Order: sequence, then C-alpha cells, then structure tokens
Amino acid sequence: MDVYDTIISRRSIRRFQQKPIKLELLKKFVNAARLAQSAANLQPLEYYIVDKANLCLKVFETLSWAAYIKPKWSPNENERPIAYIIILVNDSSNKWYQRDASFAAQNIVLTAEGEGIGSCVLCKIDKEKLGDVLNIPNDVFIDSVIALGYKDEKSVVEDYKGFIKYWRDEKEIMHVPKRKFKEITHINKY
Ligand SMILES: Cc1cc2nc3c(=O)[nH]c(=O)nc-3n(C[C@H](O)[C@H](O)[C@H](O)COP(=O)(O)O)c2cc1C
Repeated sequence: MDVYDTIISRRSIRRFQQKPIKLELLKKFVNAARLAQSAANLQPLEYYIVDKANLCLKVFETLSWAAYIKPKWSPNENERPIAYIIILVNDSSNKWYQRDASFAAQNIVLTAEGEGIGSCVLCKIDKEKLGDVLNIPNDVFIDSVIALGYKDEKSVVEDYKGFIKYWRDEKEIMHVPKRKFKEITHINKY
C-alpha cells in the first residue's frame, strides 16, 4: 500500500481474528519504531513484545477499551488481541518522551496496517499491575500498549457533526467522527 493509503485506511481496531502473527512481523514493527525520529536523538524508548497466550491474557486484564461504547465493553475471549507491543521509557526525565513515544507508536501501527494487521493504541492501563505482570523494573515507565491482530471488525470515518464520540451501529460497524478538513485548515490566512 502507498503511504497515504495506509494512513487513511488505519482505524483503531478492537476485535481480532484468533490467527497468530509471525514473530518476525512483530520484530519488524519494533524495528520501524526504533528508527523513528527522537528529540535530540536521545532515544529513551524500549519495546516489549508479548505474543504468548498466557501473557497476552495477563496484559489484556490491565487494559480499558473503547470508553465511549456503552454499556461498558471489552473484546470477547474469541476476539482479543493476538499480540502486544508495550512502549517503555527508560528515562522519564526526558521531557520529550511522550512525543518520541507517539512517533514510535505511529510507526508501529502504520507498519502493521501495511501488513494487513489491525491495531489499537491504549493508554488507559493499570500500569502498576502491568509492570508486575511483565517484571518491568521500577525505574522503567510504561507509556502505552499497542494491541495487535488480524482485523475482525470494520471501522469507518464519519464527518464531524458536533460530537466526537465514536459509536457502533446495529451491524457492529464502528463509526469514528473526524473534524472536517475545511474547519481545521488555514491556507495562507486564519
Ligand atoms: C494517546 C491515545 C490513547 C488511547 N487510549 C485508548 C485506550 O486506552 N483504549 C482504547 O480502546 N482506545 C484508545 N485509544 C484509541 C482512540 O480511542 C482512537 O484513536 C480514537 O477514537 C480515534 O479513532 P481512530 O484511531 O480509529 O482514528 C487511544 C488513542 C490515543 C492516541
């Protein structure tokens, strides 16, 4: 896929086929993250790949899903992520680490999208529990978790009409409002 097509086809995916992802692909996603831009090239990030079923379940239990979907929802047992990449920060005194982590996360999700793999970036995490589960040292900070798997849901963009909350329709298709180009873009004048 062309880079632009990959960017516009990416949506957050929260339901996944229970089909394994090759470890080589997960390593490719981390490699894409590793090579992302970094403020002052300090590179404070590390990556934790999880693809063992028992560990995936433990990671899953620390996450919160799709807060706008009511009643409270999370993926069923047969649609949970097949793997995770956790973005870690080994120097949280670096004041730009969140930006570095965002670029790294975007490299991961776009590389995954290009391979036909869906993803969701999650930041609402029980970090204490996740740190215990993954034996992460106390001085290493958990920034985000990227859930991965072959897609088992459809998500489409809608024009923003005064509300930003995504919703699911009766066919279980996710609809994600995005602000319109004309409303947020200024060309040569504000
Ligand atoms: C910083 C950040 C944190 C997020 N945290 C969560 C989360 O904890 N749980 C979740 O289900 N989605 C999470 N998301 C996904 C957003 O809900 C999603 O990006 C947004 O609704 C727009 O949908 P789209 O990704 O399909 O464009 C997060 C996204 C970002 C950028």
